[in-house]
Amino acid sequence: MTSAQPLPLTPPVMSAYGSHLLICAGTYCDPEGQAQRLYQRLALRLGELGRYDNPERVKRGLTPCLGVCAGGPIVVVYPDGVWYHHVDEAVLDRIVDEHLRDGKPVEEFVFHRLGE
Ligand code: FES
Repeated sequence: MTSAQPLPLTPPVMSAYGSHLLICAGTYCDPEGQAQRLYQRLALRLGELGRYDNPERVKRGLTPCLGVCAGGPIVVVYPDGVWYHHVDEAVLDRIVDEHLRDGKPVEEFVFHRLGE
């Protein structure tokens, strides 16, 4: 019996980025299915912050669950660890302008912070 030799695995390359914003698309917290629309809007709203060659780039993602399952759509911004509830298009725009651009979370929609 021979053992297979492992293939040489080349790790992917990660370009620099500043933040990662995740939107929950789960049906428990987003029963009206707004997450996909928010995700697409985010790409348009980020502008320069979405450029691949910007070291402060904001990566975005959709996820099936963030473990909250109520009060959505739920959005979390890392590495800040700031969690938002009831994010509609207007709130998302504010998150981009106030939190991601100006560094000031949109307090009235924050329900949790990592470490608190
Ligand atoms: S379904 Fe959205 S957090 Fe679980």
